[in-house]
Amino acid sequence: MIVNKPPMGWNSWNTYAENIDEALILESARALKKSGLAQAGYKYVVIDDCWALKERGKDGKLVPDPAKFPRGMKALADDIHAMGLKFGMYSCCGRMTCARYPSSLDHEWTDARSFAAWGVDFLKYDYCFKPKNRSGDDLYRTMRLALANSGRDILFSGCSWGADKTHEWIRTTGAGMWRSTGDIFDNWKSICDLFHRQMSILPYGGRGCFNDMDMLVVGMHGKGHVGLGGCTDEEYRTHFAAWCFLQSPLMIGCDVRNMSDATRALLTNPMLIALDQDALCAQTYRILPYEGAFEDDPSENRYYMLARMLENGDVALGFFNFTEEERRMECTLDEVGLGVPSGRTLELCDCFTGEKCLPQCGSVCVTLAPHACAVYCGKVVKA
Ligand code: GLA
Repeated sequence: MIVNKPPMGWNSWNTYAENIDEALILESARALKKSGLAQAGYKYVVIDDCWALKERGKDGKLVPDPAKFPRGMKALADDIHAMGLKFGMYSCCGRMTCARYPSSLDHEWTDARSFAAWGVDFLKYDYCFKPKNRSGDDLYRTMRLALANSGRDILFSGCSWGADKTHEWIRTTGAGMWRSTGDIFDNWKSICDLFHRQMSILPYGGRGCFNDMDMLVVGMHGKGHVGLGGCTDEEYRTHFAAWCFLQSPLMIGCDVRNMSDATRALLTNPMLIALDQDALCAQTYRILPYEGAFEDDPSENRYYMLARMLENGDVALGFFNFTEEERRMECTLDEVGLGVPSGRTLELCDCFTGEKCLPQCGSVCVTLAPHACAVYCGKVVKA
């Protein structure tokens, strides 16, 4: 499968961890449909860790826990497909999954056949308990090859958290996306950390294999498995806009059966989703801090001016204030290739409000409260 756009969907881990069963998965799938999230692009319904029995069957195959999934995975996959959605599952390349369930090490070809027979469309593949004497890239290539020869088109989603310089080898595995960070938690610090981490690995993402900044915590409000603290509405907005700006896969992690209107509206923001899904997949570039600035202390509070070329000739501009103070930022048209000789300027559209504005005296100026952002789509027009 060639992955041309960042995959979008919902994953069970952030909120439910091991507390999953068929009813929950089906209710969540129905909620995706009913709320309009599916229509906005969220198609993959992914069961994360803790779905299997602790022992393989006598035939060597993984066995879905009958207490959680009494009809097995095929029936569940059929129901999800009947809703027009896609079905994702989880395994791991090590001796056990991260939550200590059976894993696919040395069972890759058997498990790939099971996943294909069940109707799986997406496999998240973790990295816990990887034997020291086996290389991660070999193990990932083995599973991806097994999937590619399973008779079913299955998206391979690597989840090695950037360990062992994943960025240097992930594209040799044929993965469609790769976890470029450690696990997300539902608090502001985690969002900042994951964002900063991306800045040195932007060139590795893009069409075919996207940098996955981990599942969204939008709308968790401190509830659920990774709900450690919660964020303000403003922080969720910045989180979502940042993931979209950097073309991360968008995997919702909140309880979609009980979302607030604000959560639903943010997750379906059409301009931000269009930015995430832009077909050009051009690399985001940094106007501020410029290359080399602050490289020594990645944890420092920062503010960023980012830009990205879009497929239709527009330019996206993103201003992100990860600091604790109000910040004024100024981006000149020169810095996005529209100096005076171009005779052009940008007609800016605010991705949150839809309001239009023009740069003043050749620059775009924003003043942002702590933790706030501003994101614009800029159309190139005559000055
Ligand atoms: C790891 C992954 C998480 C989740 C858990 C499940 O921590 O990074 O996303 O899948 O394992 O145990």
